[in-house]
Amino acid sequence: MSDADGSRPEGRISSHIAHNARVWNYWLGGKDHYEVDEEVGNMVTSMYPSIGEVARADRAFLGRAVTFLAGEEGVRQFLDIGTGLPTVENTHEVAQRIAPDARVVYVDNDPIVLTHARALLTSSAEGRTNYVDADARDPRAIIEAASGTLDFDRPVAIMLLGILNFVLDTEEAASIVRELVDAVPSGSYVVLTHPTLELGGEGNEEAMKFWNENAKPPITARTGAEVAAFLDGLDLVEPGLVSCARWRDEEGTQVAQFGAVARKP
Ligand SMILES: C[S@@+](CC[C@H](N)C(=O)[O-])C[C@H]1O[C@@H](n2cnc3c(N)ncnc32)[C@H](O)[C@@H]1O
Repeated sequence: MSDADGSRPEGRISSHIAHNARVWNYWLGGKDHYEVDEEVGNMVTSMYPSIGEVARADRAFLGRAVTFLAGEEGVRQFLDIGTGLPTVENTHEVAQRIAPDARVVYVDNDPIVLTHARALLTSSAEGRTNYVDADARDPRAIIEAASGTLDFDRPVAIMLLGILNFVLDTEEAASIVRELVDAVPSGSYVVLTHPTLELGGEGNEEAMKFWNENAKPPITARTGAEVAAFLDGLDLVEPGLVSCARWRDEEGTQVAQFGAVARKP
């Protein structure tokens, strides 16, 4: 396990302020959160009732995207940035069911995710998993730490699910994606999800404002055009940038979260 910033996680955990990894875990029906996370999670749900559906649709999208990449596209390496707390169907479990030799590096900067990371390191014998405690804003440190596990001369799926929305400056978020994409060869992929105010979701804007006043880290929604621009220069895989619930699932009920998979030509 790599710890890019070297500090001990216990001293960094705050049980007084709601944190995204823990509240996301609460919305997904997990047990790894504090009372304050439940309180804030419930307040957000009361303002934006479909947030639980968003979280579940995002995870289901992860499952379909990784299945597609490991299965149809033969991708064997995954760099999952903004991993979140371990849950069911983590990236390596989905990928290694199809390709036992798949390698996965998980990255998050929340100390509680670091303390639970062991549950993400249950690799198949043929594959490998690793966990890097690092900030998405430092792609160079991430690539350096991940290169002990991933071969950056071979295709890598860069997974950015629900994470660029915590990089409030759109140009900074775009430059993070560019730096990551520059580090991987042709045939690599970017997989992303991102909240938006364009796909409905009553109360979403009000709930985000409440979140930013009461929880960490602050979040922003983006338009489809802004999210699509993160994938400039890449080839969007069908059906393109859509509600993540509808990506390769025509029956999915739309949620206010974009999802897309794009290939580096
Ligand atoms: C909404 S959750 C998404 C979890 C998972 N990717 C999913 O789609 O289910 C966002 C995760 O990003 C992490 N995160 C937020 N800001 C980050 C940053 N600057 N660097 C690394 N991780 C970050 C949070 O700790 C949290 O675990």
